[in-house]
Amino acid sequence: TIQRDNVSIFRTKDIDAMIGAHASGEGLKKVLGAMDLVLLGIGAIIGTGIFVLTGTGALTAGPSLVLSFLLAGLACGFAALCYAEFASTIPVSGSIYTYAYSTLGELVAWIIGWDLILEYGLATSAVSVGWSGYCQSLLAGFGINLPQILTAAPGAIPGVTTFINLPAALIMLAVTFILSRGMRESAKLNNVMVAIKLSVVILFIAVGIWHVKPENWQPFMPFGASGMMNAAAIVFFAFIGFDAVTSAAEEVKNPKRDLPIGIIGSLAACTTLYVIVSLIMTGIVPFQKFAGVDHPVSLALQYAGQNWVAGFIDLGAIIGMTTVILVMAYGQSRILFAMSRDGLLPKKLSSIHPRYATPYFTTWTVGVVFSTIAALVPLNVLAELINIGTLAAFTLISIAVLILRKTRPDLPRGFRCPGAPVVPALSAAMCLFLMMFLQAFTWYAFLIWMVAGLLVYFCYARRNSNLHPGN
Ligand code: ALA
Repeated sequence: TIQRDNVSIFRTKDIDAMIGAHASGEGLKKVLGAMDLVLLGIGAIIGTGIFVLTGTGALTAGPSLVLSFLLAGLACGFAALCYAEFASTIPVSGSIYTYAYSTLGELVAWIIGWDLILEYGLATSAVSVGWSGYCQSLLAGFGINLPQILTAAPGAIPGVTTFINLPAALIMLAVTFILSRGMRESAKLNNVMVAIKLSVVILFIAVGIWHVKPENWQPFMPFGASGMMNAAAIVFFAFIGFDAVTSAAEEVKNPKRDLPIGIIGSLAACTTLYVIVSLIMTGIVPFQKFAGVDHPVSLALQYAGQNWVAGFIDLGAIIGMTTVILVMAYGQSRILFAMSRDGLLPKKLSSIHPRYATPYFTTWTVGVVFSTIAALVPLNVLAELINIGTLAAFTLISIAVLILRKTRPDLPRGFRCPGAPVVPALSAAMCLFLMMFLQAFTWYAFLIWMVAGLLVYFCYARRNSNLHPGN
């Protein structure tokens, strides 16, 4: 039952009403199947993490980068199982947030939603910045060079005066335009681009493997276990996105079956590819050579004398990162949509466009705000902030799975996380562990974000919530 007269911060939404609304076809159009979701997941996962941050990772961990990927992948795998349990229960837009709302109460839901805004929003900006790097290197191959002040955020390149990352801002706005026109077109376009992205990653593996020199793997752990774990906290970024699958829940035809397949399938595929790619990269190039390089994957092939293939990799990376921006921006607008529909954010953010049937206003708001951030903030700062927000949300979700198994054993769960309580506990522990390897600056910024979130909750969201007495 809806607790309408309840002023508690633990008040919950009515689950049966939400499931009913999904079944009766209210709200957004249901057009996505399991394969669309796996591709949506891969579309969100493979991007700046593997194409750009592997360079930073290799400098931090040396060849043991492969272990960093395995460690981060394992943490994500456990979290994904918890995520899938959540997502398969309540197929409503912004579903992790929504599930928390209907089980753990409004405040926990708000905190998770607020974390996800940080994750998805800044991820669109970060990946736009990665996109810009590969785009500029491809253009440079054709002898086209942008004026330097337009190529990066202020302070992004030490000793060089830069004002704005123009390509990053422009790609973000272009993606916004596509998304604002509707999901069916976007999913189709996404599928084509994911196919291209997978092809270039496999191309890299197929060509690169013949140029591996095993002596480059020695010493394997030049900076010890701590270097390896520092890199894991950074390359965790490369796995972010599998959770974006859940934000499409409301547009999925058969969410109970398709959501777990989408989440776990896309994560497993990407982990396999990352492990192989990082082994090959550090096998071709002595890791020190990645210093200051923003296109490490194609650099590895240039190093091997495969310039043509490297050019294809550049192009594929550009296309691949476009899909990541697309899915992240999509997830972001749907989270805001869900929070606004519940009254926690201004109602205007959940208005649906009469012709395109999309949250048009929200999509454009997200596009303009995060293209500005993409233009003005350097990649390394963005990546750490995204990681901490995401890890915090994963930790909460893992703990929530445990709590709900105890307090709400009755809930129908389309997918049950295996190995509970061990797996959810491991998931929370590993996420907290990775968070400890992020910089102090990141922690301060994150705490400020959380305090701001609580202020907004107690000053605005709580009173305007649909569940508040009198609303
Ligand atoms: N995992 C996404 C990427 O690597 C965010 O770009």
